[in-house]
Amino acid sequence: MTDTKQANTMWGGRFADGPDAIMEAINASIGFDRRLAAQDIEGSRAHASMLAAQGIVTDSDAEAIRKGLLTVLSEIESGKFQFSTELEDIHMNVEARLRELIGEPAGRLHTARSRNDQVALDFRLWVRDQCDQAMAAITALQQALLVQAEAGADWVMPGFTHLQTAQPVTWGHHMLAYVEMLKRDYKRFGDARKRMNECPLGAAALAGTSFPIDRDMTAKALGFDRPSANSLDAVADRDFALDFLSAASICAMHLSRLAEELVIWSSAQFRFVALSDRFSTGSSIMPQKKNPDAAELIRAKIARIFGANTALTMVMKGLALTYSKDMQEDKEQTFDAADNLMLALAAMTGMVSDMQANRENLEAAASSGFSTATDLADWLVRTLDMPFRDAHHVTGALVKLAEDQGCDLPDLTLEQMKSVHSDITEGVFEVLGMHNSVASRTSYGGTAPAQVRAQIARWKEKLA
Ligand code: ARG
Repeated sequence: MTDTKQANTMWGGRFADGPDAIMEAINASIGFDRRLAAQDIEGSRAHASMLAAQGIVTDSDAEAIRKGLLTVLSEIESGKFQFSTELEDIHMNVEARLRELIGEPAGRLHTARSRNDQVALDFRLWVRDQCDQAMAAITALQQALLVQAEAGADWVMPGFTHLQTAQPVTWGHHMLAYVEMLKRDYKRFGDARKRMNECPLGAAALAGTSFPIDRDMTAKALGFDRPSANSLDAVADRDFALDFLSAASICAMHLSRLAEELVIWSSAQFRFVALSDRFSTGSSIMPQKKNPDAAELIRAKIARIFGANTALTMVMKGLALTYSKDMQEDKEQTFDAADNLMLALAAMTGMVSDMQANRENLEAAASSGFSTATDLADWLVRTLDMPFRDAHHVTGALVKLAEDQGCDLPDLTLEQMKSVHSDITEGVFEVLGMHNSVASRTSYGGTAPAQVRAQIARWKEKLA
């Protein structure tokens, strides 16, 4: 048997006994929902103003409540506030302290409200703020990528499919690929924010209230576009957190892909980039090592972020309307996912800003692996009017020849080329150079430096 306490002062009117200690342990959320303190107080202050404006409480009571809540906030912010597990959650902790500070008027704050719409509001405000923060962090990373893109707009590197050399591309083009990916992440957070921007406050426990509240007033005061239109949905909905977690999962997946590239590129076998000391670690046994730990950790963050997305989906599935305590399990995972997404974005921005791409090594890698074979095939089509399938076959034979000779395509002599197809002329060598190759890919969205510079200019304007 564990000890039991006195009945809860907030809701214990009909209780003779207090909760078992284990009940308290499983029930209390104050250990984590204290992070919602600022949102809780902001929501309560708006609610108090509305109650006064509607004549539901007096102006002087509302004023005392609003002032007292600011005192509570400053106590929490300065670390002086005594959080109590007995008071379960942030809502009751704040209200109990308010009562100590201002007495009877504190008890009027919860008129026409329930913890169900209160927590729906607080958490929504918190997640909405995280959307804003994620969008700002994404923009910072895009800016860092853009600086890299501009520095190496015409540097040639191997473009890969299957991680096999495919065609030469430009470094700037590769950097811009991530800028585009991140644009979609930015929009996903923006869309999520727009969709979640309806105010649940005033739904009360689940059915609305008989008090003459003004939901438009509180919605407006808290920066929402409108009040939510169905009180049952308002207290039962956690889609806003799932929207955030979905956007976060996809964004973390993108970061994971870039992280993987940085791990590969910084290896001794590639040496495409050097990561800064600031974002690397050493080995305690191998003195030569400089490890891309930050990239590896970013690569792994998707696990917990996607995990949170899955976890909350599982919490919500099968819950009959409206609120159930299951929903208290929405917060910890979302907090953790948001914290780790922000950390991953910041670390990636630092790594990208600091990294030094090695032009020489990029270009050396691009000039091996028959990366201009497609250019050769295209030349056969253009110059000799060969059907592409035939050109593909002839080029294959030339690649085989070069491979046998232990050289790359531009190193074959004209005679060797002619031994495969007699119509080939000197002009072919113009397209075999990788610089010519990339310069020729001028189609919209292609890798030609001219295209890349145009995209950089467009992005610079957009992000300015
Ligand atoms: N701590 C609760 C949560 O996070 C607040 C809402 C409690 N509502 C209730 N009816 N018990 O979900």
